[in-house]
Amino acid sequence: MSTSKATTVSLQEMKRNRHKIVMLTAYDYPTAKVAEAGGTDVILVGDSLGMVVLGYDSTLPVTVDDMVHHTKAVTRGAKQTLIVTDLPFLSYHISTPEAVRNAGRLIQEGGADAVKLEGGREVIEQVQAIVRAGIPVCGHIGLQPQMVNQLGGYKVQGKDYEGAKRILEDALLLQAAGCFAIVLECVPTLLAQLISERLSIPTIGIGAGDGCDGQVLVIHDMLGITEKYLPKFAKKYAELAGDMTAAIATYSQEVRDGQFPEAHHGFKMSDEVLERLVEETGRS
Ligand code: KIV
Repeated sequence: MSTSKATTVSLQEMKRNRHKIVMLTAYDYPTAKVAEAGGTDVILVGDSLGMVVLGYDSTLPVTVDDMVHHTKAVTRGAKQTLIVTDLPFLSYHISTPEAVRNAGRLIQEGGADAVKLEGGREVIEQVQAIVRAGIPVCGHIGLQPQMVNQLGGYKVQGKDYEGAKRILEDALLLQAAGCFAIVLECVPTLLAQLISERLSIPTIGIGAGDGCDGQVLVIHDMLGITEKYLPKFAKKYAELAGDMTAAIATYSQEVRDGQFPEAHHGFKMSDEVLERLVEETGRS
């Protein structure tokens, strides 16, 4: 576990020293606190919050205001952890100045240390402009959830030669544009390993095998808070949805049975005050 706050520069040192980078999503104050206490190097305020926190079917409805709101809570909870926040759908596609302005909001208002955006060659101009403004950028290629409608679903990318070559070229272009790291989502293990060997900046994998320089998971998946579909690449380290449901069922039963609250959950008042209250306000 690292003892000092990671930086976008120290992540590159971790790659050189072959120290695996641990990234985990968080979207609010309490989960940011536990993510930090558990020793995460980087917290990602992912736009996956649209699905796991806000209940949307995709990440597409998430706005910059949503990201700022959740990033503020995360940065209050994890002051010793590098915080990267996603630029959501359409916040960096319309124009380069708008991309810089939105990235700036995540830093200035949200308190994030860096931003992440999806895409390869088509977003190079935006990456360069954001980096020029002094904002570190993490790339995200392979499966890009913001492109779900164009991809026809959440599918593994880069299995054929053309697809794999495009992803490798995009990784090199993003590195040249100034990205400090790149998330590789749902690509074959051997492709991710090749890309990781070719890049000097770290790769962070999700569904990309063990050859990446680090890993990222969605906290709701790994803690078992998401009861719905669990992606093949995710591993559950706890079953919190079951634990939470059982705790709430016990609480409900105890309230209905009069078992909760017990005397020690209450607060005392002197007999004298009670007597006076009864006297002066009359018995009803
Ligand atoms: O939004 C997110 O949580 C992400 C991760 C899946 C990498 O982008």
